[in-house]
Amino acid sequence: MNVRDSEAVEALLVAAGHEKAAGEEEAELVIVNSCTVRQKAEEKAVGKVGNLIAAKKLTGLMGCAVKRMGADVFKRLPKLDFAVGPRAFGLIPRILEEGRLPRLELGEDLVPDCLAAHVEGGWQAFVTVLLGCDNRCSYCIVPDVRGHEYSRPAREVVAEVTALAKRGVKEVCLLGQSVLRYGVRNAAWDEKDAPSPGGYTEPFPRLLEAIATVPGIERIRFTSAHPKGCTDELVRAYREFPQICRHLHLPVQSGSDRVLAEMGRRYTRDEYLAAVRKLRDFDPEFAVTTDVIVGYPGETEADFEATRSLMDEAGFDNSFVFKYSPRPGTRSAALPDDVPTAEKERRDQVLLEDQERRGQERNDRLVGTVREVMVEGPSKRNKSRWSGRDSGNRIVVWDVAGEATEKSGETVRVEVTEAHPQTLVGRPVPR
Ligand code: 5AD
Ligand code: SF4
Repeated sequence: MNVRDSEAVEALLVAAGHEKAAGEEEAELVIVNSCTVRQKAEEKAVGKVGNLIAAKKLTGLMGCAVKRMGADVFKRLPKLDFAVGPRAFGLIPRILEEGRLPRLELGEDLVPDCLAAHVEGGWQAFVTVLLGCDNRCSYCIVPDVRGHEYSRPAREVVAEVTALAKRGVKEVCLLGQSVLRYGVRNAAWDEKDAPSPGGYTEPFPRLLEAIATVPGIERIRFTSAHPKGCTDELVRAYREFPQICRHLHLPVQSGSDRVLAEMGRRYTRDEYLAAVRKLRDFDPEFAVTTDVIVGYPGETEADFEATRSLMDEAGFDNSFVFKYSPRPGTRSAALPDDVPTAEKERRDQVLLEDQERRGQERNDRLVGTVREVMVEGPSKRNKSRWSGRDSGNRIVVWDVAGEATEKSGETVRVEVTEAHPQTLVGRPVPR
């Protein structure tokens, strides 16, 4: 989401007549986009801004950490030139034009059209469809900083995707903190919209249907998901539209029912596993990835072992493990952060090792299969080795003998000859 917001800011600044610098050294102005989901993330952003200020750059800070700190941001960074919250980035061109610095903007009202600004070029694009989050998980600061859920009108999203496709974009990734809640809090479709040709009644599958009919869009991804959104209609959309990639990032956070309840995740272990089963029943190769938190307050060894066994049962293709970090103002911040750092690290390490083994096992099953791979380009280290991704978001690499005939954004067929925990190696085969 931050990558997308930064891209929008770049596009807005270029449209306002500014020029993109070749790099940080040459830049007169540097804007850092910040995250505050864990304390470390925030410290990293603040530290970076401190260095830029020391290098005497004109400096802006945007994003989630700004919203969390509020006016205190200028206490921590007295020489910061401007700071804007996650929904206020559309004001940056105006702030630069007016030049009354320092300035702080935390407002929730989006500048019209700022969400649709994209930089030119490329065949992949992120499209924000849902802002904010209303889930209120006990540990999570996102609802406090990114505000209430707001679904963009479907017509606006489809128009944006159509414009991107006309410029050569082939793959879109639809973004929302809990993207399957699209159209739940506020209506995304209105009376004037034509009815769904396939009879879809749920707003998100209906949006997928509409985007799948945009000429030129070959692949549709979306992130992140919640098991409650894994409905029959979603699976029907997967079945009816092969453009929708066979991958879902479905954060589980814990495999212990007790911890899940404490976290306020609103599903049980069994319900979560049922959602995964539904996707794999539809397609056994369906890739499911996840996020897990280790060391949540009161997490026992038994809770942790429940997470381990859930991860094996779900057969995750990849997983991201986070050490619990108390965030000010969240419900869990009132609980003692009682799992020692060394123990959080151990649990993190155990899950990483489990994932290496599991990733290897999952990928071993794909040896001998042919993947439809969208080409990304040559690897940085070895120009004769190219890479791309399959529908399941798996990285696939292959050797190019002599002059490469592949172009990035093209789809090639690659037969898998070798599997690793995080990558597949193969050779191109004719169509
Ligand atoms: N501490 C550790 N990890 C967290 N996440 C969210 N909040 C916290 C926190 N307070 C993780 C979750 C989420 C991912 C983006 O970050 O796993 O899915
Ligand atoms: Fe970080 Fe959450 Fe903000 Fe994303 S929404 S930048 S994960 S705090």
